[in-house]
Amino acid sequence: MMNQTFHSPLLQIMREAIEEDLRASLAPLQNEHGADMAEMIAYHLGWDERERQSSGKRIRPLLGLLCCATVGGEWATAIPAASAIELIHNFSLVHDDIEDNSETRRGKPTLWKRWGIAKAINLGDAIFVLSRLAFYKFTDPKIPPERLLKVLHILDEACLELTIGQQLDLAFEELEVVELETYLRMIYGKTSALVAAATMCGGIIAGAKDSTIAILHEYGHHLGLAFQIRDDILGIWGETAITGKPTDDDLRSRKKTLPILYGLKQSQEFKGLWETKRVDDEILVAMRQALESSEALHYCNERAEAHTQSALTALTSLNGRDPYQLELSNLTHNLLNRNL
Ligand code: IPE
Ligand code: IPE
Ligand code: MG
Ligand code: MG
Repeated sequence: MMNQTFHSPLLQIMREAIEEDLRASLAPLQNEHGADMAEMIAYHLGWDERERQSSGKRIRPLLGLLCCATVGGEWATAIPAASAIELIHNFSLVHDDIEDNSETRRGKPTLWKRWGIAKAINLGDAIFVLSRLAFYKFTDPKIPPERLLKVLHILDEACLELTIGQQLDLAFEELEVVELETYLRMIYGKTSALVAAATMCGGIIAGAKDSTIAILHEYGHHLGLAFQIRDDILGIWGETAITGKPTDDDLRSRKKTLPILYGLKQSQEFKGLWETKRVDDEILVAMRQALESSEALHYCNERAEAHTQSALTALTSLNGRDPYQLELSNLTHNLLNRNL
């Protein structure tokens, strides 16, 4: 089942092309010994037809294809990079769920919950390598090798940034105080770097000039920050039936997400509840209520809106082609207001 949240006829066509290429990227596992791993990946990516599946939004590959097209490229030429980026994202989710001790993602048990931690670590590694193999399928002779090398370099840098962000995120669990600047550095690493890689790589494959790539970076950077702040909001106020992730996870595991950082600074009541270290339902409800009284939600919405606005300003200065430019603008607005 495909998730229909971000759909327009164009996005639907792109999504189908991404899905087809992602399926093809599992080819190296289609043999006697790889079949178990292929099954696990199919489950994670939402292709296991035996159960109701959510497959993920595929935001990063869609952004890559749209950015390629808006600056004058043919979006279909960027498909191998789009698949590579989605696979990097999914490798990071498989490991993230172990790191965060999360039992549910996309409305179903996480890979580690279903197959055990050891196999999930190994599968994350396999998805990481499959992302490289998906990229190596670039055969379009119109794309000069220097451009492809540049894309690979950006993807590798984004992967390193992602692990730095994850390390910071985990380290924050032990810290009493985290400043906004440090939080922004953390979400830049864990989320924004890969989103910015997606937008930049689309432009590089299209052959855009450096000044355009810089704008695409600015766009992806702010969009990624807004995306993560929205994720933080949904981590406390989202509906599990829509997000596919349990609403209490961040409070229970004492994650230093943005609403929580705000609450710790601005609300003695919240801080007192937080410091009890209790994780029962009663305290989780009380913590959410204390955050609500502290205006944390309002603050986070404002921060997400500010980054969305910066993303839109960058996007406008691209002067890209319609319909792709319009799709990017709609997508940017929709991501700010997303419930999924
Ligand atoms: C979840 O990303 C992790 C974050 C960086 C917030 P997405 O919300 O893009 O996850 P899927 O792929 O759609 O499930
Ligand atoms: C998202 O981490 C970033 C990566 C997976 C690298 P989170 O832990 O904030 O995201 P969710 O809420 O589990 O999807
Ligand atoms: Mg997580
Ligand atoms: Mg995490």
